[in-house]
Amino acid sequence: MIQRYSACVDGGIKNRRRTSYFLTPDPYTPMIRFHDVTKRYSTGYDALNRLSFELGRGEMAFLTGHSGAGKSTLLKLIAAIERPSRGQIFIDDRNVTNISRRGIPRLRRKVGMVFQNYQLLHDRTVFDNVALPLVIAGVPQQEIGKRTRAALHKVGLLRREKALPITLSGGEQQRVSIARAVVNRPPILLADEPTGNLDPELSDEIMRLFEQFHQVGVTVLVASHDLDLISRFNKRIIRLHNGRLLEPAHPRTASRVR
Ligand SMILES: Nc1ncnc2c1ncn2[C@@H]1O[C@H](COP(=O)(O)OP(=O)(O)O)[C@@H](O)[C@H]1O
Ligand SMILES: [Mg+2]
Repeated sequence: MIQRYSACVDGGIKNRRRTSYFLTPDPYTPMIRFHDVTKRYSTGYDALNRLSFELGRGEMAFLTGHSGAGKSTLLKLIAAIERPSRGQIFIDDRNVTNISRRGIPRLRRKVGMVFQNYQLLHDRTVFDNVALPLVIAGVPQQEIGKRTRAALHKVGLLRREKALPITLSGGEQQRVSIARAVVNRPPILLADEPTGNLDPELSDEIMRLFEQFHQVGVTVLVASHDLDLISRFNKRIIRLHNGRLLEPAHPRTASRVR
């Protein structure tokens, strides 16, 4: 934190163009910013309704709300899996509201995603599952080995690299999917009900892992309807109800939330 603060002071942020494509993003600008975002699906239903919130660089927050509140939709908008119908979305200082198809891979490299059902390839080893994003990105073979093992080490599964996912427990499979999400070292980590299939003890363990990535500077947003679980972590909670923020998620956005 101190390092970031001094870097920013030294860098004279006043002189930077805030939306520049080429310059390092201003450390004071949020990593994720939604401004008055509405998502209307083709059914005509507004899954998100005039939503404004910010998530700071390196911040960790939980996203909660009833089933159908709009949690998954919000995460999909961040990764450009879905597009907003109205409003603006900024990720890492770039306006991605109308991102072109060509721009999507660049955005996705910034965003690691974890899902409730792990989404592993069952005919490939743990190592191959985790290495996949690097293979797709064309990373050299030697580098793939190094980075994949580093990611597996972080989630405590190095010794299982040759196993097939089916031979692992649910908690271990989720840890493999987390390793895959972080293997590219993305600055943002999103998780959609990552503990939905796990018992309380394993759920705690998985949330602690997310906390560890947050502690090394990753911006983390975890959707979960499990209030018991998330209340055990001393983190900001963003609450959705029928596609609206239940209360201001950040004092600065308070005036925009109606
Ligand atoms: N692809 C879609 N097409 C139409 N409606 C959708 C689609 N995805 C989600 N919805 C609707 O949008 C609302 C929010 O869904 P979702 O974001 O999945 O909520 P949550 O993750 O909080 O359960 C729900 O009413 C859901 O039925
Ligand atoms: Mg959902």
